[in-house]
Order: sequence, then C-alpha cells, then structure tokens
Amino acid sequence: KIQEINKFREIHTEAARFYFANLLRTKNPGYEYLRKRGLSDKIIKKFGLGYSPNSWNSLMNYLLSKGYDKTDLVKCGLITHKTESNKYFDRFRNRVMFPIFNYNGKVIGFGGRVLDDSLPKYLNSPETLVFNKRMNLYGLNISKKGIKDDTLILVEGYMDLISLYQNNIENVVATLGTALTIEQAKLIRRFAKNVIISYDSDQAGQNATLRAIDILLKADIKVKILNLKDCKDPDDFIKKYGFDGYKKAIEESDYYIKFKIDLLKNKYNLKNDTQKMNFVEESTLMLKKLKSPIEKDLYAKYLSDLTNISVDSIRASIGIKVSRNY
Ligand code: CTP
Ligand code: MN
Ligand code: MN
Ligand code: MN
Ligand code: MN
Repeated sequence: KIQEINKFREIHTEAARFYFANLLRTKNPGYEYLRKRGLSDKIIKKFGLGYSPNSWNSLMNYLLSKGYDKTDLVKCGLITHKTESNKYFDRFRNRVMFPIFNYNGKVIGFGGRVLDDSLPKYLNSPETLVFNKRMNLYGLNISKKGIKDDTLILVEGYMDLISLYQNNIENVVATLGTALTIEQAKLIRRFAKNVIISYDSDQAGQNATLRAIDILLKADIKVKILNLKDCKDPDDFIKKYGFDGYKKAIEESDYYIKFKIDLLKNKYNLKNDTQKMNFVEESTLMLKKLKSPIEKDLYAKYLSDLTNISVDSIRASIGIKVSRNY
C-alpha cells in the first residue's frame, strides 16, 4: 500500500507539472485569466498553478506516455471512466488548476476553476487513497513557515489565500468551501493556538463561521472573527484596502462571542420589549457557558450597552456575584 501511495503521489506531481507547463505556453487562456485577477508570475509559480487544456485526453496521453496505467489514473481521480461507452477522459478540462498539497508539500489533489461564469465554478479531486479532504488544509505547507503571533487566519477559498499571500499576509490556511472538520482543527492546533476566521461575508460564510467556531473551540483554539466590512471575501478586501487595511482588520478582530451576539441581535427588534428580553435571554445563555470570568464581564458590559439593561442584572443572570456595600 505504501508503494501505491508513493506511486499516486508521483502521478499527482507529474500532473501538476503538466498543468503548469501548459499555463506557461504563449497566449494560454488560464494564464491570462490569472493575470487579469491580479496574480504575479512569482506567485503563480510559488503555488504551482496550472491550466488543464480544453481537450478530452491530453493529461491521460501525457501520463500514459510516462508509463502509468490507466486504472491508476482513474483511482487518482484524474481520469474518468464511462462504463457504458467504455471511454476514458480527463476530469479537468479548460480550467485553471490549483494543486492541493499536504502540509509536507506533496501534491495530493487538485481544484480546477472555470474561466468564465459557467458551473460548477470549481471542480475538485474526489476522495482517493492520497486525498483525504477532512484531514488536509489548503496552503498549510506554505503558511506553516509564515506563522506570526501563534496565529493562523482561516479563509474559504484558493484565491483568498493566494491573494492574501501575494500581499504579504502569509499565515493563512483555507478550508476549500467544505465545513471545517475536527481533524483539520487539530491539525491547525499543532501549528497555532489562535485562529482568526476570515470567511466570506455572505450568508453561507456566516453560517460556516458559526460552525467553525464550535469546532475550533473543541480543539482548544482561541477564536477571533475578522470583519470584511463591505467586501464579499478576503480577495476582494485586500484588492480594495491593501495590506494595511487587512492588517488593521486583523488588529480590530474581536473574540467570537461578539460576532455571535451581533448575529443574534440582527434577529430581534430591540425596540420591542418582548424581543429585547428574548435577545438578552439567548445571549446570557451563551455568556453563562464561558469559563473565563473576565470574558463574562467584558461581554456583560457589551450586552448592557446594546440593550440599556443594567450591567448588574446581566451579571447576576450569568452567574457573576454582584456585591453591594450598603
Ligand atoms: N468551492 C468548491 N466548489 C464549488 C464552489 C466553491 O469546491 N462549486 C470551494 C472552492 O475551494 C472555493 C471555495 O469553496 O475556493 C469558496 O467558494 P466561493 O466563495 O464561491 O469561491 P471563491 O473562492 O471566492 O472563488 P472566486 O474568487 O474564484 O470566484
Ligand atoms: Mn463563499
Ligand atoms: Mn459561493
Ligand atoms: Mn469567495
Ligand atoms: Mn472570491
């Protein structure tokens, strides 16, 4: 099995070389696409980005010429076999290719993006002997060398990570649009004690943030949330506000509790007494569960400011003793 793993990794490395070489051909549409999105030659090389030609068998023929078996290429998810017609064809065609590395820098899979608005926008390698999605994080092989303040930033997408990296934010990993797993959180914990979640600002991103918070906390990680203001994702943000803007957003990022209280607040009309009470009740339930009394107190104050309910009653309801000297 070890031999098979090594062979499959070799196949992926060869495929990455093939895609990269294609990207560098003159007038390559993948290259033009990436340049239009602001990536430099240096960063394209650093992340080994490539292009899968608009043809049915170009990768297959290349790998067959290197001596690999069709059945292995199918097992790697690079080639699809249609049993009805007994035809083989390349999984990735006419896409910009993002090799996915494990944290030791071995290519284990690919993500491929279309060059226009067609769907699916991204196509990824299936689960294979060497590609286990729930165990890996995109970019960790590179960002593990750039960790600052014991902190990793967590983003959704390939382009978010690469774009931040190009702008000198180097301590980033990406979950690739799937829900963060406990295995991934534990992997992060081996490299950093703190995570700043910087997911997309849309509804999907907010929901994913809520789920990621719980999982990161379970892995004993301190969690902050970055606010992207008017931008839809970190790639957009860094293009608009640059390194300084993102750096500032990092410094201003608050602990996850504030994010949760703010989200909850949007569900209620605080001008209505009943709704206000419900909001406070739900929030205090959350604060009650906090272990640190200092954190409790901090957010009791925050809740009091939001609602004009006295901080003493909020403290009392979340189990902080209120003493009086009269
Ligand atoms: N994703 C995926 N399959 C899809 C859509 C998304 O695997 N059909 C993953 C990709 O890893 C993508 C991430 O989820 O990078 C986040 O999705 P999205 O925000 O929609 O894409 P962006 O990363 O913003 O991509 P782009 O900027 O190229 O549009
Ligand atoms: Mn998204
Ligand atoms: Mn999306
Ligand atoms: Mn996005
Ligand atoms: Mn994007």
